[in-house]
Amino acid sequence: MAKPTLDDLKRRLDEINPDIFPLLSAPKEYFSFRVNLNRSSVDSVLKKLKEEGFNPKEVSWCGEAFILPIENRESLVKSSPYTNNEIYIQNLSSIFAAYSLDIKPHYWVLDLAAAPGGKSLIFSQKANKVSAVEPNRERFFRMKRNFKESFAKNIQTYNKDGRFVYKACPEFFDAVFLDAPCSSESHIDVKKGITWWSERRIYRFAKLQKQLIISAFESLKSGGEMIYATCTFAPEENEAVVDFLLKRYKEAKIVPIKHDLDHTQNGLLSWRGEEYDISLKDTIRILPKGAFSGFYMAKIRKG
Ligand SMILES: C[S@@+](CC[C@H](N)C(=O)[O-])C[C@H]1O[C@@H](n2cnc3c(N)ncnc32)[C@H](O)[C@@H]1O
Repeated sequence: MAKPTLDDLKRRLDEINPDIFPLLSAPKEYFSFRVNLNRSSVDSVLKKLKEEGFNPKEVSWCGEAFILPIENRESLVKSSPYTNNEIYIQNLSSIFAAYSLDIKPHYWVLDLAAAPGGKSLIFSQKANKVSAVEPNRERFFRMKRNFKESFAKNIQTYNKDGRFVYKACPEFFDAVFLDAPCSSESHIDVKKGITWWSERRIYRFAKLQKQLIISAFESLKSGGEMIYATCTFAPEENEAVVDFLLKRYKEAKIVPIKHDLDHTQNGLLSWRGEEYDISLKDTIRILPKGAFSGFYMAKIRKG
């Protein structure tokens, strides 16, 4: 089989949306971080950062998230708020997706594919308890250290395969987030050409994602909501996985995601001859722009 080329990737992305490839190829201008409310406050962090010469810009939809020009990244990791774990560098798409899960203070939240733990840290600030699942041992222990350093005391960690979690805890969690392992097309460095990307990889992940989305949905309480997300553009790993869930469970319904972002695309209703449920139009693909990387997300309600 011939090695995939950058042209193969471009053709595929153009078929989804001709804006994606140019946006993915453009130099990154900004990055983002979030204040860790377990260790500090927004006012205190901003004061320290200003004293150390930074001028972060607040994000309109999240009081704890800020952006800075990419040239500041190296110096930010040497700043006192960063070395004291008062801030956490995290992509805006990830922050946006985690904040899109409605969490009440008494909730027990499941993060089914959790390492390095950035989203669990957001849930831990809002929920009573969080269960964070990660099967990869190395990533699991790094995640545990991350939680400890962030003073996140209400997160329980499990070094387990997310596909089987539903067997131990059926209909247990008030809310579930599945940030699925994926072909990570939004992290491709176009300048370096194709290193690990291939359509075969897409199909392999799609199979795993279907098993994981079932486990996520089965673990969710009736009446609860979950988010399925990936950092890839491929419809086989996004709309097709969610459509598979909708077809299998009559009680699975798409909930529109509220947002005023201007660089999103509604979910596709068909792809390469496959037709998807009409409600898939209420899922979104975030296009890579500013401090946002490419992302797909669907909010699903049970019952
Ligand atoms: C996109 S990353 C999660 C990022 C994380 N949610 C965050 O925001 O910090 C996907 C994770 O899924 C894990 N993973 C792979 N296979 C899995 C499985 N069968 N069950 C659960 N997690 C899995 C990967 O090791 C990886 O850490």
